[in-house]
Amino acid sequence: MSQEIELSKGVTHEDAEKLAALALKARERSYSPYSHFQVGAALLAADGTVYQGCNIENAAYSPSVCAERTAIFKAVSENRQDFKAIAIAGGPAGAQLPLPACSPCGVCRQVLMEFCDPDSFEIILVRSQTEFTQMLLRDLLPLAFGPGNLRKKGKRKV
Ligand code: THU
Repeated sequence: MSQEIELSKGVTHEDAEKLAALALKARERSYSPYSHFQVGAALLAADGTVYQGCNIENAAYSPSVCAERTAIFKAVSENRQDFKAIAIAGGPAGAQLPLPACSPCGVCRQVLMEFCDPDSFEIILVRSQTEFTQMLLRDLLPLAFGPGNLRKKGKRKV
């Protein structure tokens, strides 16, 4: 199941507010009985489809997955690979809004790097529906190793 938002050019403040609301909603579905840290994500594809994700923990701990990767893997498994932005809302269970800003873990940054253009993909750190910080993937993962590094010589972007 996915949501749709009407697209304006780039990721406007209005788009970001809609994504923030969807990330906060996804956070309500967090399965986090071990950390009690609830995270929701809303990933915006180029055609306006939004894929939501939440963190899903496991009694064996290491099979746990972050909200961001849940959203990306849902989207990629639905044949989508063109993304514009992701909103992330995280905080301890029961925390009141505004939440502290929750930035993606290193593994999720690397997974985003696989599918998203670091120079245009926006990461929105959500504190509430109207309070958030927008930044670029390249700022959160500088000097990243990505698919471009494995391309043949001459075709490399950096
Ligand atoms: N977590 C996320 O889902 N996304 C993040 O960006 C940071 C951490 C999850 C993983 C784990 O279920 C819980 O938050 C505590 O680390």
